[in-house]
This record gives sequence, C-alpha cells and structure tokens, in this order.
Amino acid sequence: MAELHPDIQEILLEEQDIKDIVKRVGAEITRDYADKNPLVIAVLRGAVVFMADIMRAIKCPLSIDFMAVSSYGDGVKSSGVVRIVKDLDTKIEGRHVIIVEDVLDSGLTLSYLVRMLKSRNPASIEIAAFLVKDIEGKRPAIDPCYVGTHVPDKFVVGYGLDYAERYRNLPFVGVLKPSVYE
Ligand code: XMP
Ligand code: MG
Repeated sequence: MAELHPDIQEILLEEQDIKDIVKRVGAEITRDYADKNPLVIAVLRGAVVFMADIMRAIKCPLSIDFMAVSSYGDGVKSSGVVRIVKDLDTKIEGRHVIIVEDVLDSGLTLSYLVRMLKSRNPASIEIAAFLVKDIEGKRPAIDPCYVGTHVPDKFVVGYGLDYAERYRNLPFVGVLKPSVYE
C-alpha cells in the first residue's frame, strides 16, 4: 500500500493496479494495430505518464507525437472552451491515429479534438483514455475505444493528473481533499 499524501483523501489506484491496466490496454492496442503503424498522440501535459507506459506496452511498430490543448486552466471544472496550445509536428493524413488521454470527464475536450483532427483525413482515429469519470445520468460527449478504468465523479490527481500543476508525480491515483481547492 502506498503511503497516503497529506492532501489525498483516498487512493483509487495503487501502482500495481496501474501496471495491470497498462498491460491490458497495451495488449488490446497491439492486437488491433499489429500491421497499422499507428501514430500515438498524447495530450499534454496530463497524459505524458500514461503515454510513457502505454507506448512500451504496445508491442507493434508505432510513432508518437504530442498536442497541447487547454480547457481547464488551474480550476477543477470544464470550461467547454478548448484552445490549441501546441499542434502536432506530424502529418496525419492516411495514418491510423490513437489519442492517449489522461481522463475523460465531459468528453468536450476530446470531441473537439477528434473533430479537428478528422478534418485532416486520417485513415482512422480512436481514443485510449486512462480514466473515464462516471457521471450520474450523463454520457461523455465521445466514446473511447480503449478504457483503463472508470473512476467516480471526484477530482483525482496523480500519475500525470494535476491540480494547479501539482501532484502529477504521484505514482498512484487518488482523490484530492476538497479542502485543498475549496
Ligand atoms: P473534459 O470534461 O473535456 O475534461 O472531458 C478533460 C480534461 O479535464 C481535465 N480533468 C481533470 N484533471 N483531475 C485532473 O487532474 C480530474 O479529476 C480531472 N477531470 C478532468 C483533464 O486535463 C482532461 O484532459
Ligand atoms: Mg489538468
């Protein structure tokens, strides 16, 4: 068991849980993309930790690229406004694209991104979300093809996920104490 950080209320995923998720999702992607040489795109900055792990769990040839979008600022609620801060360096026309994301919440960020990337005519485009938030009575705006696991509708940090740029380096995923941001 990981030691509880003073700002963390509860640990949702221990390091071993994360390892198991990465292995399973990596095997699913390997099976589906064996001869497709996918371009795996991570959305900065939250997805970098999952990207670093998942790319090594995918056992077929691939290339990687990064994008940065901003929809949250330092807050905890989706603004619905998505701004491209850094675009891809790679041409995606005719490529099989996989977008790696840290957490799918409302799905607004990714549905915008997918629409934008589809206009560049990739051969296919799918999403691998490390976490999907279960929001009562609501479905996310977009369906990820690959899901690490579902988490409750609470603000989570660690394994790349931040609050005000903190906690990304925690090796586990935990629920932030509301007292930290209230
Ligand atoms: P939407 O609502 O557009 O949001 O799917 C996706 C983006 O919002 C951020 N996000 C979080 N970041 N803990 C975080 O550290 C959370 O619990 C959380 N929920 C959403 C995240 O950047 C994601 O890309
Ligand atoms: Mg963030």
